[in-house]
Amino acid sequence: MQKNWTIDSWRDLPIKQQPLYQDQGKLKAVEESLRTLPGIASPSEARHLKRELAMASQGKAFLLQGGDCAESFAEFSEGNLRNFFRVILQMTVALMYGAGCPVVKVGRIAGQFSKPRSDAMEKQGGIELPSYRGDMVNAMEFDDEARVPDPERLLKVYYQSGATLNFLRSLAKGGYASLRQISRWNMDFVATSTQGKRFHMLVDRINECLSFMEACGLPLDDMEQLSEASFYTSHEALLLGYDSALTRVDESDGKPYVTSAHMLWIGDRTRSPDEAHVEFLRGVANPIGMKVGPSMTKDALLNLCDILNPDNEPGRLTLISRMGAEKIEDLLPPLVRATHEAGKAVVWSCDPMHGNTIKSPSGIKTRRFTDILSEVRTFFAIHKQEGTHGGGVHFEMTGQDVTECLGGAQAISEMHLADRYHTHCDPRLNASQSLELAFLIAEELKKKK
Ligand code: PEP
Ligand code: CO
Repeated sequence: MQKNWTIDSWRDLPIKQQPLYQDQGKLKAVEESLRTLPGIASPSEARHLKRELAMASQGKAFLLQGGDCAESFAEFSEGNLRNFFRVILQMTVALMYGAGCPVVKVGRIAGQFSKPRSDAMEKQGGIELPSYRGDMVNAMEFDDEARVPDPERLLKVYYQSGATLNFLRSLAKGGYASLRQISRWNMDFVATSTQGKRFHMLVDRINECLSFMEACGLPLDDMEQLSEASFYTSHEALLLGYDSALTRVDESDGKPYVTSAHMLWIGDRTRSPDEAHVEFLRGVANPIGMKVGPSMTKDALLNLCDILNPDNEPGRLTLISRMGAEKIEDLLPPLVRATHEAGKAVVWSCDPMHGNTIKSPSGIKTRRFTDILSEVRTFFAIHKQEGTHGGGVHFEMTGQDVTECLGGAQAISEMHLADRYHTHCDPRLNASQSLELAFLIAEELKKKK
């Protein structure tokens, strides 16, 4: 265990972005129950993910991390999960083809239910109420009762996350993710689009390769690499009462693992080195991430790398850059150079979403596909120039046919934004935009090769 760290040492430090629970007794009782419930993500899987991320830190694998900005109770259904998983598999195949290396698949899912907010209060027509902080805390409706933080929601998140991971695992390991099933992954509403047709062409090529391998006598159905996929979960470690109540010391190595997800990350607003979120995550053995936004300095970054990964273990720390399309060119190179020169074994990943949020003239929160693409391209160009690896990407996306981000081949315009705008927080790429982005990234990765 890390020096002076305990599962509760974060409780003595300042903490940002927390709900104000009125009934502390109820909160304690819920956390007590969580402490006795079985873990959701296993420590051995977390160790496996860390090994895969270690490969990504060396440019021998590529990280694809994506999912909702905020999961919700309302959008929880088998259909939505299946569509999400399908688009992740499609993106994976597109990326593998371009990158020529394994893709490490990590969902923002099965625990991504709480949100940091810029304002603690929200005002509408003269009335002021506590902000919505995600279904894990309160409800989105703008009324008194809905906005009261309710600890019971932590238990609902726990059960929904368990069911979510169970279903995704059954898809990943139960034959659905087999490359032999690849023709089934094209979703109805994507299949007829440019991206769907492009994917179909890729499927034909892969099927030809598989037939050839079969003709050579290779037992394709028995090959785990072709018949199963690995899939991991992640969320922002924000409500530490929940994540710490689900932390267990693993018998095999005697180290504490958060079992609410395989990987957790620290948000851009909660990464002060002397505050609770950094304190908690420094002591757990999972792979962890940290958002790196425009206010990060070289010294602060190196200090945080030392605190969060004192042994410089490859795969332990993923730095998720989220600068914005306009700022990345100026802000990222000195930071990449600093970690490179200091020999930090990190994965650099690109979140092209959170630095590119805008408001449409009608007041809807959105993002332009062109900005997202531009930030990703600049990210890879910077790594090429610095001689380092652009090891992954981090997206807010969904398998549904929503209209939340502007542009892409479907040319979603301001006029269309309200048609199917369902997100519980930030605007997500829809299935077609996600696949389009994966193809464009694959081209960038191919250039690198
Ligand atoms: C997020 O990933 O949803 C988020 C809030 O990001 P950031 O911490 O980078 O603002
Ligand atoms: Co978000």
